[in-house]
Amino acid sequence: MFEHNLQAYRTTGIVHHYCQLLQLQPAERTILELLRHEWSSMKMLDIGVGGGRTTLHFSRSVREYVGIDYAKEMIAACQKRFLPSSQSRVFEVVDARDMRQFANHSFDFILFSFNGIDSLSHEDRLQVLQEISRIGKPGGYFFFSSHNLQGLEREFNWQNQISFNPLKTYVNLVMFTLLRGFNRSVSMQQIKQSDHQIIQDESHNFRLKQYYIRPQAQLHQLEADFSNVQIYSWKSGLEITTQTELSANTDMWLYYLCRFKETALDQ
Ligand SMILES: C[S@@+](CC[C@H](N)C(=O)[O-])C[C@H]1O[C@@H](n2cnc3c(N)ncnc32)[C@H](O)[C@@H]1O
Repeated sequence: MFEHNLQAYRTTGIVHHYCQLLQLQPAERTILELLRHEWSSMKMLDIGVGGGRTTLHFSRSVREYVGIDYAKEMIAACQKRFLPSSQSRVFEVVDARDMRQFANHSFDFILFSFNGIDSLSHEDRLQVLQEISRIGKPGGYFFFSSHNLQGLEREFNWQNQISFNPLKTYVNLVMFTLLRGFNRSVSMQQIKQSDHQIIQDESHNFRLKQYYIRPQAQLHQLEADFSNVQIYSWKSGLEITTQTELSANTDMWLYYLCRFKETALDQ
């Protein structure tokens, strides 16, 4: 899965796609506004920076900005897009599974946006979360998004593809057929019974293998090293505050904002 996705992210077409993106997603805008009084004192790490969509908005607000990506073509594109300036901003090729060049507790805010963490296997994902908790400052923030298995469960059912608009129904059914065709080994039963699944979804024409997780399982994964987890709808940017709302949510991905815990060593 690691090599498969890395090769896809290194291709010219995909690098170009991420360099064209400009807008923040609604939940990212919410967080930019929520922490508006803190940015000027923060050192930020932007993991999986891609073509620099988030650099545009965050790097001018923070005290220090570091953007990393495991695809050297993405980093070259960022270096070209953001020429050296008076702002403290650097880009480096780094694999998030091993961030040994960053000391413990170096960053106040760590971002892994647009489901970048989902290109990793379950074991790699846990390792990345460990690394992030190591380099985050206690009390600082980790903000990331991840695909929602509840949203996928909805997409896996053909009945949910029918709409009043015949053209929309037709397009939905074509996408449904492709989704099921690319994931023949995954049954609806398996999706219903699992906490997470690896799926080839429609992003970049079914080229990527992506990790989908139930929000409850994601909360469980974060429990040991992070606190105060808040969940935001990708689409509306609003916080999901009740258990009922969370269980019924079928956004294709969700944003999670959490704080770095104090470790035993810090106390
Ligand atoms: C979906 S793209 C998002 C790009 C950008 N953050 C944005 O929001 O437009 C995910 C990015 O994460 C990077 N990525 C995935 N796994 C990574 C890893 N283990 N270490 C560093 N970067 C990674 C990919 O190369 C890709 O650029």
